[in-house]
Amino acid sequence: MVRPTDPVPVPRHYLMCRPTYFAVEYAINPWMDPSAGVDRERAIRQWEGLRDLYRELGHRVSEIAPVEGLPDMVFAANGALVVDGKVYGARFAGAERTPEGPAYLEWFREAGYGRTREPKHVNEGEGDFIVLDEVILAATGFRTEAAAHQEAERFLGRPVVTLQLIDPRFYHLDTALFALSGDRIVYYPGAFSPGSRRVLRSLYPDAILATEEDAAVLGLNSVCDGHNVVMAAEATTLAARLRALGHEVHPVELDELRKAGGGAKCCTLELRETPL
Ligand code: ARG
Repeated sequence: MVRPTDPVPVPRHYLMCRPTYFAVEYAINPWMDPSAGVDRERAIRQWEGLRDLYRELGHRVSEIAPVEGLPDMVFAANGALVVDGKVYGARFAGAERTPEGPAYLEWFREAGYGRTREPKHVNEGEGDFIVLDEVILAATGFRTEAAAHQEAERFLGRPVVTLQLIDPRFYHLDTALFALSGDRIVYYPGAFSPGSRRVLRSLYPDAILATEEDAAVLGLNSVCDGHNVVMAAEATTLAARLRALGHEVHPVELDELRKAGGGAKCCTLELRETPL
């Protein structure tokens, strides 16, 4: 039975990229060890589990064709930021992923998105931008430049709040913070500078603060539709707290992709289209 206070799911449209060419061939974050090797078949099975779960939960999933030679392209969250049907393209910090920016933009143009923007400034898409009702939270420190926050603000017409990441394990905003709804967030405070922690405290006094243990298994790299929370299976403390708040938590095994520093959210780009 749904009580009036229960968090309510809202169907989403996600873009994902099958890890057909997934590998750890370079190290651009502390999770990546090219000498350790990956089991690509296992990565594909885990990714399919995530995609099928979204569909079971009632979401629409579109797929972009993976490109050979781009082993991190599976992390679709980095491909763009889509708000009100406007597509702010990505411009990657490192040469390894640079061709992904135009590949994602091309997908959007072919899919009929008329309002796309090739970015001037370095930004890694929704990996470093989290869209909430009142503001878009945006990170800098490792990948996305603060100048891109202003560029996104102008293009999207939504206020953007800059946050500073300080722990190299949590190099993208979506490894340290996720939204339960348009006005409720969960984050690991240790990932942020003291000033940014103050900003988050004042904007979101009711936020849920996660432990370092949950953050260290990428438990903050989660996807919530307002009710269901898709989260790393290992983040058990956080899962219990969210269940106590009335959320349904769906644990997912994505440890093969975590070898590249990514989890459920990294594999998922939300397409926020203009309501018809
Ligand atoms: N290996 C990828 C990188 O370092 C992982 C990206 C994870 N994506 C994310 N949205 N956090 O760029």
